[in-house]
Parts: sequence; structure tokens; C-alpha cells
Amino acid sequence: MPEKTVLVTGGCGFIGSCFIRSLLERDESVTVINLDLLTYAGDPENVGEWADSPRYRFVHGDIRNAAIVDPLVAEAHWIVNFAAESHVDRSAGAMAGAFVETNVHGVFVLLDSIKRQRPDAHFLQIGTDEVYGDVPAPDRADETAPLAPTSPYSASKAGGDHIAMSFLRTHGLDVRISRCTNNYGPFQYPEKFIPLFTTNALEGLPLPLYDGGTQVRDWLRVADHCDALHLIMEQGQPGEIYNIGANHEPERTNTEIVRLILTHTNAPESLVEHRRGLRPGHDQRYAVSTEKLRAMGWSPKLDIEQGIAETVRWYAEHRDWWQAKKDRAYQEFYAEHYGRDREAASS
Ligand code: NAD
Ligand code: TYD
Repeated sequence: MPEKTVLVTGGCGFIGSCFIRSLLERDESVTVINLDLLTYAGDPENVGEWADSPRYRFVHGDIRNAAIVDPLVAEAHWIVNFAAESHVDRSAGAMAGAFVETNVHGVFVLLDSIKRQRPDAHFLQIGTDEVYGDVPAPDRADETAPLAPTSPYSASKAGGDHIAMSFLRTHGLDVRISRCTNNYGPFQYPEKFIPLFTTNALEGLPLPLYDGGTQVRDWLRVADHCDALHLIMEQGQPGEIYNIGANHEPERTNTEIVRLILTHTNAPESLVEHRRGLRPGHDQRYAVSTEKLRAMGWSPKLDIEQGIAETVRWYAEHRDWWQAKKDRAYQEFYAEHYGRDREAASS
């Protein structure tokens, strides 16, 4: 393969850092530039030993800033955009505006830069299955399903997808979109369901299970997500959207995921604290059809039981990593969010 430079944005976050590690590992001809704002969710150490590689460069900056983005885009053959505000609960709070600014306007700044300087470059927008909204069983949304986002997070991600596709149609850029289901695995900031419950269980803290725990997410191991992204870059086509998901059979409710976490952390069920009112507009079920990607040869490598066991082990062995993340700002968010609506706490 010819030498290529890949500009990864948001590469200090959970999925972007996994993508960088796997990309540098699998392709020696690749150089990565990682542009990341280092919000609360970003940690430059998430790329591990690759931080010192001559094939890796970290740039601290904002995708919304064209002056920073332009020179980096000018160097890049590929731009893969992971940069986002990503937590649904935060998007319901005071920082909702940041979701629109990064997840919509940020995507525009990247594409406008590509249009002006590198119209031959390829752009992969990392999207989410949440743009399809709540999908009633037994349906699965395919890539042509209408977008029906319900949270400010998913609405902003849908906005980013629309902006991206408009640059394909209007300006002829190579734009591809992936839409993955919920990810889990190492280096996930401990505000999301699986790392929050795993680390709280390891610490003997309550597990705040929302709304009865009947909701369904199609949990995918982050490494399997990244494998799919490499395939989309290598064999995907401009203008195409690719759903990515595990398609668990049977589907797993949040309660069932909690059971797996309790088993592997040896924590008692009494830690589960039923909570209501903390996730306004809580989507019941996400489900996508992944036939298009599977026809290209992709499938997940581990099932959910093995994946959760492996993930719990990682968190048990990397306490330093997540304990540092549960810092003062985290405690403030936690107290503000989970302290809310105490009177409706039990059900
Ligand atoms: P994350 O919150 O762990 O990381 C986001 C990263 O983006 C952080 O490193 C942060 O510093 C950076 N960032 C935020 N705003 C920025 C800006 N303006 N400029 C530059 N960098 C900025 O998120 P994640 O879970 O790794 O998700 C990555 C992408 O994948 C997101 O686009 C998200 O919508 C999408 N996605 C996530 C999941 C999931 O389950 N986590 C599932 C499907 C899709
Ligand atoms: P989350 O990890 O926030 O991902 P998303 O909302 O993007 O799907 O939540 C996954 C599921 O877990 C969702 O149904 C909400 C639920 N949940 C809880 O029950 N308690 C929690 O503290 C959190 C963060 C999530």
C-alpha cells in the first residue's frame, strides 16, 4: 500500500484511540495525526505506546477552528472524524450547545477545509445508530431508514451526517458514514453504562439502573467496531452508509448486562439502585440491520459474554486509569446528575 497520512479527530477518546492503535498496528505505511481538544473525555495516554512512535503526531486543538484544521487537512489522505460530545445524559443538561457546536458545526469545518484544500481526500464520519431513534421490536433499521433522533446528542449526530452527505452531493467529496451501535471495552470514560457499572461495582458503589432496566442496546466490542471501520476505508464506497452492530440473538436488556457485570466483578445484586427520571425521553430499543457490512466479510470476533468478561478484567487491572478519571469534575457531574430527583429514586 502507498504511504498515507490519516488525520484522526477525537483520537484521545474511547473509540478513536482504539482506532489509532489498531490502524498503526495493522498498516506500517500509515502515519497518523491525532487532533483532539482534550475535553473531559479525552486522554492523550489512551493511544498507549504509540504516543512515542515516529508515525504518530498529537495536535491539541478544536475541529471547529479552521486555522488549526486547515494545515492538518492539507497533509491528509484520509480524515476520520471521531471528535464529538458523546454522552446522552450530558446532552440533556447545560452543555447541550456544545453538542451542536462540535457534532454539527465541527463536521462542517472539517468538510469545508477538505473542499478548499484536499478535494481528493476521503472522509469517514463516525456516526451512531441512535440517529434512527427508538426502533420497535422486531424491526431493525437499515441504512435507508429515516432518521428520527430523540436526544440532543442523537439529533446533533444526525445533523453531522446530513452536513457530511451534502458535501458529497454538492461538492463531489468522498464521504462515507458509519453508524455503530453502543460500544464497550477498555479506555471507555466511566460515565457510560458499562464502565460506570463495572467501576462502581469494583468500588462497592450503587449501580443506578434507569427505568426498570428493560431497554435494549446492541453492545459491540470496540475492537470489532474498529475492524469494521478499517474495512469501510479499504472496501467501502463514496456516498455509502454502513451500519455496524453485534445483532445479539437473543437481544440483551440492560438488566441482563448488569447481571453479567455483577457475575464478573463478584459484586452483590443489592448494589443495583433503581432510578427513574434521570434519562428524559429514554429510548427503549436500538437495533440495526448489518447485512451490508456482513456481505463485505465483517463479523464480530467475540460474543457478549466473553467480551464483558474480558472488559471487566481490564477495568479490574487498570484501576489507576479509571480512578484518575473519577476526579473532582467527574464527582461534580455525578452529584449534579445522579443527585437529581432523589425522591423518585426507588421503584
Ligand atoms: P468520547 O467521548 O470517548 O471521545 C470523544 C473525543 O473527542 C475526546 O477525546 C474529546 O476530547 C474529543 N473532542 C470533543 N470535542 C472536540 C472538538 N471540538 N475538537 C476536537 N476534539 C474534540 O467518545 P467515543 O465514545 O470515543 O465516541 C467517538 C465517536 O463515535 C463519536 O462521534 C460518537 O458519536 C461515536 N459513537 C460512539 C458510540 C459509543 O458507544 N461510545 C457508538 C456509536 C458511535
Ligand atoms: P449509555 O451508556 O449512556 O449509552 P446510550 O444512552 O448512548 O445508549 O446508556 C446505555 C443504557 O444504559 C441506556 O439504556 C441508559 C442506561 N443507563 C443506566 O441505566 N444507568 C446509567 O447510569 C447510565 C449512564 C445509563
